[in-house]
Amino acid sequence: MNRVYVCSCFGVTEQQVKAHAKAGACTPRQIASACKAGTDCGSCVRTIQALLGRGNCPRRELADQGEPALTAAVPAPLELREAA
Ligand code: FES
Repeated sequence: MNRVYVCSCFGVTEQQVKAHAKAGACTPRQIASACKAGTDCGSCVRTIQALLGRGNCPRRELADQGEPALTAAVPAPLELREAA
């Protein structure tokens, strides 16, 4: 198996970071909350940021505002509200 380590301080692999991103983490801080990567020497934070990219993340605005993006209540889309 080919493992590419992103965070050598905590032995976190690129695959693990991608899995956390797929599960909803969209900032290095959220990755850190999920697996501690980036919380020791910090040298991997830029790599984690690069893996996350600047793509669409519906929760990024909340995270940038300091809100708990993974647990915040997000209003239902209009079509769902109208159907209710
Ligand atoms: S390499 Fe990730 S915190 Fe040190």
